[in-house]
Amino acid sequence: MSSILILNGPNLNLLGTRQPEVYGSETLQMIEKACRDHAQAKGLEVDCLQSNHEGELIDAIHNARGKHQGIILNAGAYTHTSIALMDAVFSVELPMIEIHLSNIHAREAFRHTSYIARAALGQICGFGSQGYLLALDALAVHLAAQRGDQ
Ligand code: DQA
Repeated sequence: MSSILILNGPNLNLLGTRQPEVYGSETLQMIEKACRDHAQAKGLEVDCLQSNHEGELIDAIHNARGKHQGIILNAGAYTHTSIALMDAVFSVELPMIEIHLSNIHAREAFRHTSYIARAALGQICGFGSQGYLLALDALAVHLAAQRGDQ
């Protein structure tokens, strides 16, 4: 069974109370539960991890190698600043889907740049928590194609 790492970056532990008009009213725990249920229905396993620290996110990406077959990454504000996170994803050679709750392209100019995107299979943004489920669907299709499933 394929295993997916769902990795959330800084300030996403505050979902539910953090600017709900931008990020919605669901908590991270609710989103992770929805991901687990959705993944199970798709025959995938998920591990969820959140950190406010860039180095911990990098370590989690390194540790995914050999353990997970894909990564769903919401790097929060590190999306727009972290070459180190981008390099970490390139280094482990695992398919990664970048996700954001909000539509970063419709917001402030500094959010339009994503270093993460260069290392991503694709980017999903603007669909709120549903984006995580869309990313799971996309990874399931990608991994099945990689395995050569009919
Ligand atoms: C975010 C968008 C980022 O610009 C912001 O810094 C976040 C959340 C999102 O999910 O919409 O922390 O990644």
